[in-house]
Amino acid sequence: MPDPDVSQSRVLITGAAGGLGSALASEFVKQGWKVALCDVDRDAVEALAGRMKARGGDVLSARCDVTVESELIKLRELCEAEWGGLDVLINNAGIASMAAIHKEPLDRWQRLVEINLLGVVRGCHFFVPLFKQQGSGHIVNIASIAGVANTPYMAAYNATKAGVISLSETLLVELKPSNIGVTVVCPAMFKTGIAQGASIDNPKLLGALEAEMEKSPISADDIARQVFSAVQRKQFMVIPHRASRWMWRVKRVSPALYRRLFLKH
Ligand SMILES: NC(=O)c1ccc[n+]([C@@H]2O[C@H](COP(=O)([O-])OP(=O)(O)OC[C@H]3O[C@@H](n4cnc5c(N)ncnc54)[C@H](O)[C@@H]3O)[C@@H](O)[C@H]2O)c1
Repeated sequence: MPDPDVSQSRVLITGAAGGLGSALASEFVKQGWKVALCDVDRDAVEALAGRMKARGGDVLSARCDVTVESELIKLRELCEAEWGGLDVLINNAGIASMAAIHKEPLDRWQRLVEINLLGVVRGCHFFVPLFKQQGSGHIVNIASIAGVANTPYMAAYNATKAGVISLSETLLVELKPSNIGVTVVCPAMFKTGIAQGASIDNPKLLGALEAEMEKSPISADDIARQVFSAVQRKQFMVIPHRASRWMWRVKRVSPALYRRLFLKH
């Protein structure tokens, strides 16, 4: 767990150049942590790190594509060389896609699985040995309420996020004896740049996604604050949107009622 001297606590965030990743980085910097930012977009992550350093943040930055094993290994080496270890890993990098099942090209499915699911798996796979060696650590996996809600026209995204929830539940118990904590975060839609980079050919689906994001009562900064607090309290599941917490409860009590109320089915 984080050092009681907060200025010695260290967090690494994947996909940190924008959206929730950069909000998480700002929150941890604000709380006095050392923060390693990494992203596939090298220029954006370096620019963000420069801005944070100028405001006094203790920040490292690196390019990392979560689909490339050797880049995650290099990140672990960077944390060991610069900081002597790591306290919290946040597997945040992710992309979106929407399409009917017969219209989603299979190479897009593969890309989603590579980034959203296997990207998280790689983070856990390569950092757990470091945490075990240290005798402590905490993993935060950014999933989505999509992995519970399973709304139509999002099969690939839903399946990858359900996979992240399953992975996180597995690791919660598997890693407890090693003093490694796990948090899984399941937000509903909130405003970021994810729709711009998403693979969505159908303008109606894109419009619906953007409208949902616009309607969100909470922001990436609000979610980042909830994640920081969950790490402090070792909370497992974080469902930041109030409406999603209700939906999740209804689905657990009665999946049929959930489908009638929330999916109109
Ligand atoms: N925005 C939402 O409505 C929403 C809702 C639920 C969950 N999420 C999840 O939150 C996480 C962050 O998404 P966001 O909304 O901030 O999106 P975003 O597009 O604003 O940010 C994602 C970041 O990940 C980076 N990235 C993409 N592919 C990468 C790769 N292969 N390796 C490393 N970095 C990569 C991008 O460059 C970008 O900086 C994702 O896992 C997403 O699925 C988002």
